[in-house]
Amino acid sequence: MKINSLNPFLGAILILIGVHGLKAETVHVSTPATSLVLDAEKGKPLKFMYYGSKVESSDLESILCGGSVYADAYQAYGIHPEHKTSLGVVHSDGNMTSRLVVRDVMSENNNGMVKTVVRTSDDLYPVDVDVCYLTYPGCDVIETWTEIINREKGEIRLTRFDSTTLPIRKGNVWLTHFAGDWASESQMIEEPLASGLKRIENTDGTRNGHYTRAEVMLSLDGRPDERHGATIGAALCYSGNYAIDIDTPVGDCHYYRAGINPDNSEYRLKKGEKFVTPPVALTFSNDGKGGVSRNFHRWGRDHMLPHGSAPRKILLNSWEGVYFDIEEPVMVSMMKDISDLGGELFVMDDGWFGGKYQRNDDTRALGDWVTDTRKLPNGLKALADSAKSVGVGFGLWIEPEMADLSSEIYEKHPDWIVKARDRKPVTGRGNAQVVLDFSNPAVREYAIGVVDKILRDNPGIEYIKWDSNCGIHLHGSQYLDNNRQSHLYIDWHKGFEEVMNRLRSLHPEIVIQACGGGGGRVNWGVMKYFDEFWTSDNTDPLQRIYTQWGTSYFYPAMAMAAHISASPNHQTHRKTPIKFRADVAMSGRLGLELQPSEMSEEERNVCRQAIADYKSVRNTIQLGDLYRLKSPYDRQGVASLMYVSPDKNDAVFFWYRTESFAGQRLPVVKMDGLDRKRMYKVSELNRIDDSPLPFEGKCFSGDYLMNNGLVFPYPYIHNVDHDSLSDFSSRVLHLEAL
Ligand code: DGJ
Repeated sequence: MKINSLNPFLGAILILIGVHGLKAETVHVSTPATSLVLDAEKGKPLKFMYYGSKVESSDLESILCGGSVYADAYQAYGIHPEHKTSLGVVHSDGNMTSRLVVRDVMSENNNGMVKTVVRTSDDLYPVDVDVCYLTYPGCDVIETWTEIINREKGEIRLTRFDSTTLPIRKGNVWLTHFAGDWASESQMIEEPLASGLKRIENTDGTRNGHYTRAEVMLSLDGRPDERHGATIGAALCYSGNYAIDIDTPVGDCHYYRAGINPDNSEYRLKKGEKFVTPPVALTFSNDGKGGVSRNFHRWGRDHMLPHGSAPRKILLNSWEGVYFDIEEPVMVSMMKDISDLGGELFVMDDGWFGGKYQRNDDTRALGDWVTDTRKLPNGLKALADSAKSVGVGFGLWIEPEMADLSSEIYEKHPDWIVKARDRKPVTGRGNAQVVLDFSNPAVREYAIGVVDKILRDNPGIEYIKWDSNCGIHLHGSQYLDNNRQSHLYIDWHKGFEEVMNRLRSLHPEIVIQACGGGGGRVNWGVMKYFDEFWTSDNTDPLQRIYTQWGTSYFYPAMAMAAHISASPNHQTHRKTPIKFRADVAMSGRLGLELQPSEMSEEERNVCRQAIADYKSVRNTIQLGDLYRLKSPYDRQGVASLMYVSPDKNDAVFFWYRTESFAGQRLPVVKMDGLDRKRMYKVSELNRIDDSPLPFEGKCFSGDYLMNNGLVFPYPYIHNVDHDSLSDFSSRVLHLEAL
């Protein structure tokens, strides 16, 4: 449908305005509370005018006079090559310049989902660039991307292909982004934007969430704040290498540009071929970073995550409990243990497979997806049946994108691995692991077949932990033509998406966890195929407070797997009380990751209680609105957050003491998100002592709790013996509206 009329009910409208001699054909992409405004005058370059809180049509006509930005919305390289651009095209005759002008604006409404396409094309060459926007009913996120179509007779080469460009007026603009490492993912960094180029990029090849994250927030009113201030959130939704530039050249604007990383990825398009860039999801809120997070969580649950409205089960994963020492009786006893503790699912991790090569460590057998009957004589079906007999579900770990050099699959198909022809493979994990070439259709069929067969042969499997433990360490495809070797990274991820799409349609009911050696797969481009992710291989609760805090900026609790593990912790060797471990894990998708037979009686009791309590508030945590109250990054000795159900009837408040000093006075934490007018009854969850808090069972108005908060008695945070007192005290409160 072409937009040619004023229609306030459409997600995008086109109107003509004239401002100080400027004539604009304005495209208004809108959501309930936000607007994105473009000038799409035919025959002229597409201009960006505005992104922010909703603009009513009465104001739309005047926003240019009011000082809105007027900048290129999606510029191609060549004319004014001194400026950074979003797209680089080398035409079939070698010409490196493009000038994109607007040809048309189209809009399509599909059950309230509105897709707006601004068709631009080069004014000299037949190359079309569609700049696309998608909105959902009742949702304040706009997805935007581009589609580049070659209509030239010969091949064109793309040297840069951003998904979007977002100009942001200069001022006191701050950037919030997330960086880290394996086992310390998503550490928050906040900085004012200064002149120059800030690049956030990933070059791993297969996963993209360990070292940097593809999501940023931009606080337009100065220093980032959880509750206040105009704030933009932007998430590049892609599974592969990406580049995000936050560019501050001379002039009025900062520019956010995001897309597939063009480094070593020049892409050729034959006549008629189309290149579709991954979407960037944008949101805007005047309620600071917290408002942006809640918009992303709602969009994620409603439109991205599979089974986004179904609360996740409480599970026990075998990894930190037994590592590779998988044996049938041990698995069966772990199932009984999680059932006894009140859990709902058991997941058998790495170590269950292998034929000629045995999977006793990470040096062999990866890719040989046959049950190791030396360890599991009765096979997977018997395990699924055992789980069922004790009332829990059964799940399985698998890593279908990979192989070890010592494996039957590699011996049979050495040409299936990613590597440069004529060079020896370069290995990753265990000095053994290599990546399978998903640009090759035969390899994709193999991977789909492996997972499909396991699920069909063993009908009791309801959950898959899909791991990915190796990046690309040697550029090259033994499948792609010599002049398409630079397509590897992009075609690999097209292949990955195809595999996941096919498996999702074959087995829509299966719950799949995205694991990438911990949080390597945390990206919205991945999470449309997966129900949840493994947040980090680091299960130490203190470090988890930071990692989960950072991850919560863009991802809802239901997707964030958080497991209670043993103390001392296997990654940091820190000793922490079981209550602290349980309370931290409870703020995400609760699970356990230890050998229950090694737990003390106290640990079992606390876990049993935590699981029962979690069930009573699971919907609020997993489907509610998050309010981050006190940041661990403020280093005030306490971190705190809460979840409030959408109807504000129910809330869960988490309070963690991150360090303790004699004489310390901790800040009081004010609550948020409650209904000010209603009364809430307060009760403690996961209680470990016999002394109720002074406010146990008492009622307070939402107004009081948001203005004042509740003060925990100091210094005896828990009335237990001194050996159990440590830095790591915590409290969880349940608030129920009367
Ligand atoms: C890395 C994952 O992050 C761990 O949880 C575990 O599944 C191991 N791989 C198994 O090899």
